[in-house]
Parts: sequence; structure tokens; C-alpha cells
Amino acid sequence: MDFSGLVGSLNRDFPCEGVEFVEWNGGLPAAKLSNPLCEALVSIHGGHVSEYAPKGSKPLLWLSGKSHFEEGKPIRGGIPVCWPWFGSAAQPAHGFARLRLWRVKSAVRNADGSNTLTLSLSEDASTLALWPHKFNLELKVCAGASLKVELKASNTGDVPFKLTGALHSYFSASDISNVEVKGLDGAQYIDTLNGSSHAQRGSVRFSAETDRLYQDTVSPCVIEDSGWGRRIVVGKEGSRSTVVWNPWVEKSRRMPDFGDEEYHSMLCIEAANAGTDVVSLNPGASHVLATSISEAP
Ligand code: BG6
Repeated sequence: MDFSGLVGSLNRDFPCEGVEFVEWNGGLPAAKLSNPLCEALVSIHGGHVSEYAPKGSKPLLWLSGKSHFEEGKPIRGGIPVCWPWFGSAAQPAHGFARLRLWRVKSAVRNADGSNTLTLSLSEDASTLALWPHKFNLELKVCAGASLKVELKASNTGDVPFKLTGALHSYFSASDISNVEVKGLDGAQYIDTLNGSSHAQRGSVRFSAETDRLYQDTVSPCVIEDSGWGRRIVVGKEGSRSTVVWNPWVEKSRRMPDFGDEEYHSMLCIEAANAGTDVVSLNPGASHVLATSISEAP
């Protein structure tokens, strides 16, 4: 589809200092946020924060060089919105929100120099065919000295529903062997690779395929990268589960939209509602899942 008309009308309808709507990577519509505090890019396809770098810093988010940038396909990297379900037990994997074209609701320049972009998504015939519920999703992205992403899900129908999901953040790393993740010490986790349960001891390090669901975790995680001497703090709200993922060698080779060697330069820390952390929404009720990402001094 040609999005040049949409991009033109978004620039007319949402004029805002620091926000420019562009055609990005093969033509997908996106908002480029550029202000004194950071550079960021939000794809309207998927409601997806694709790039974020505080001013003067390396990008904090990772984006695959092999990603699809096509309607109907998820973007590999950045922050996919997994909703209204997490995982691949139902199809499409991780829900349909990351596959849809969202609507722009507003673009704002804040007093501190940051920008806030708000997108929304609600049911249509294609979502009702996959999941028979009326909903409204609002994704608020505030990009400044830190990145805050807030996903508000509302039940706009007249029957209760249950949902799972995640803000599936991909972080860039100097090399995965230099990375340790702090903040999960003592937490119970399910090793998704074989279903076994464990208790985390100390920080998480990576030396093989890692796919873990940490339960009852509400505190921030800190990614320490000794190669770049960098610490990224990943906070969250509305989430009691955290997913930690690196596909390592074999799974990287199996994924068409992931380079064979790219597992060296990324890891995922996901603010999730997954496993036993299921959200129930009565008609008229809302749930906010949020994550904040910043480089620690
Ligand atoms: C993670 C899951 O959240 O997402 C992994 O724990 C999965 O099992 C990964 O492989 C990527 O999923 P997808 O659907 O984007 O390939």
C-alpha cells in the first residue's frame, strides 16, 4: 500500500515541534521524534517504538537488519506490542496488535522538551474474527531523557474478557557475553524451553538459548553491559511478570527475520502480563501496562 497520502495528512493534522511523519523502511508510515533530549521513531504500523536514543548516546533499542517492514508482519526489534495474548499458543503469535495499522490521536511537545505521541487501536471485522471482543487500546509514547511507553487497554464491550500481553522490548548490547541483568535475584521463573521451574540466583547471564518467564516480578531490571560501560534501567507498571529472551544460535537460524549472528547484539526484557499474570477486564474497565527505559548515569 502507498502511505504517502496518509503521511501527508498526518503532517497537516498533527503539526508539532519535534514530530515529523515520514515513510520509513519501504514506505511504512512512522513518526520521527527529534527534540533536544532524544531521537526516536514510532511506526504507526504495529504501534511500535522502533528506535530510541537519548541525545549523545548510542541507541538503547535494537532493531534487526533482517526485519520485515511490511503490512501484516511484525517488526523484529524495538518494542512490539504483544496483545491481546502473549505467546504462540493462539495465532497470530503474540496477538494481532503488532500487525495492525494504528491511528494517530495526538502529538505534543512537552515543557521539558520531550514529545508525546498517542496512538490508538480498536476492534474491526478482522480483529473480531480472531478475538470476539470490543476494545480500545491507547499507546502513549513519551520520548525525552528517558522513554516511557504506556499501553492502556479498555473493555468497550458488554462482556468481561481476559487478556495477556507484553511490551516486548529489544535492547542493543555490545556483545551478549558482556551483559548481565540485575533485579531478578530470588525470583521464581519458568524455563519456557522445557517448562521447568527454578529460582534465580544472582544476576542473569547468557551462554545458551534463554527464554524465561519470571513470575511475581514488579521491580525494575538493570542491564549492565561491561563492553560499553553502560547501564539501562527498565522499569514497569501494571505487570507482575518479566520475560527474558535471547534466541542464541539455532533459533536465530530458524527465524527468517533475524540474522544468524544477531543474537550477539541483543536481548529482550519484556514488561509482561503472562503466565499466571492474566488481566481480567469488566465492561468499562481499563488496564495500564507501562515500561520506562533510561540510561543510568
Ligand atoms: C518471546 C518469547 O517473548 O518472544 C519467545 O518468550 C519468542 O518464545 C519471542 O520466540 C519472539 O517471538 P516472535 O513471535 O516475535 O518470533
